[in-house]
Amino acid sequence: MKLITRQSLLFFSAFIISGASTVFAADEATIQRGKQMYMSLTCFACHGQEGKGMVRKRDRKSKKTGNWKYRKGDPMPGFEAYPKLAGQNSKYLYTQMMDIFEGRRNNGMSAAMLGIKIMIDSTAKEGDLQAVADYLSQVRE
Ligand code: HEC
Repeated sequence: MKLITRQSLLFFSAFIISGASTVFAADEATIQRGKQMYMSLTCFACHGQEGKGMVRKRDRKSKKTGNWKYRKGDPMPGFEAYPKLAGQNSKYLYTQMMDIFEGRRNNGMSAAMLGIKIMIDSTAKEGDLQAVADYLSQVRE
């Protein structure tokens, strides 16, 4: 009787631990799937490599005046309202993209993303967008 109790307790804790790890950190296969989908669904074209935003990769000074033309991390012209996604909370990323795709978030700029909805409908499988959110959330600078 005592043994059974201990075994079931062990089983129960293992269950909690494995459950908790899926809530707090996506597994490596999911991250890789997310990374692949981020590229194939062309998200990078508007949100930059690894979701780091469409930003300048280096500083640039004017040779004539010596003034800064732009600094590393400044948005590329025309992409000022295209958000950086890297490192953002996974749940936030997922709910925001679903709100955009399903029309709940519609502020004028959101329409830019609707062009790829047809591609998502035809190529993404169940869980893929969640995998993209999980992938982006663990990208570090
Ligand atoms: C054609 C350009 C374009 C493409 C392609 C695109 N996005 Fe976006 N995305 C935008 C713009 C612009 C916004 C800002 C919309 C707004 O202001 O409501 C946005 C917003 C978002 C947001 C909300 C971010 C926040 O901070 O609130 C997420 C998440 C997101 N996109 C994910 C994705 C993913 C994942 C993909 C690929 C499946 C993708 N986007 C493809 C242009 C694009």
